[in-house]
Amino acid sequence: MHKRIMMIKGDITHLPVDAIVNAARTSLRSGGGVSGAIHRAAGPKLKKLCQQQRHQQGACPTGHAVITDAGNLPSRKVIHAVGPVWRWGWRATLKQSQLASAYQNSLLLAVEHGLQTIAFPAISTGHYHFPRLLAARIAITTVRDFLKSNPVISQVIFVCFSERDAAIYQTSLDFYLKGEDDLC
Ligand code: APR
Repeated sequence: MHKRIMMIKGDITHLPVDAIVNAARTSLRSGGGVSGAIHRAAGPKLKKLCQQQRHQQGACPTGHAVITDAGNLPSRKVIHAVGPVWRWGWRATLKQSQLASAYQNSLLLAVEHGLQTIAFPAISTGHYHFPRLLAARIAITTVRDFLKSNPVISQVIFVCFSERDAAIYQTSLDFYLKGEDDLC
């Protein structure tokens, strides 16, 4: 059966979906991690598109997202979402809502552009040190709630780059999508 929310283990740059999401920074400059992989696979065109975007609209604030074409990638578009840098303590609540916003704003952009299949990496869980289990819960519940009221999006794929992330996502999907037969 077709699953509207699913998880795969692999490299997001290989997916021929309508849009892949990049874990970007506010400057939209390429870094290490998934953004480095995306920029390498997309070629110099993506760097130019990100520069243009930055010149036209300035930096992309944390929790927000912008969309560009995808250069040489097999996907049609790249959505550049800026996740928060994790902090313990009193800022933790803000960080969680900023991470949810990064997912929400990416999905809103997808809907605006008529994109139906979207692949997400685990935003903020690499260089930005967001706790992985908490990040998976926020990613899954935010996407779940969005899809319930947005029939346009036919599929969201969570792309896990490691065995550890794949295990976390599998357990979390089983838990947070229990009883959601139309989503999984
Ligand atoms: N496909 C899918 N997932 C990947 C890939 C890939 N090719 N490469 C890395 N990942 C995973 C990492 O394992 C991690 O779980 O993406 C997740 C996000 O890690 P980062 O790329 O470090 O993103 P983030 O924590 O949001 O930090 C963003 O890092 O690279 C810089 O420019 C980037 O400054 C920004 C910051």
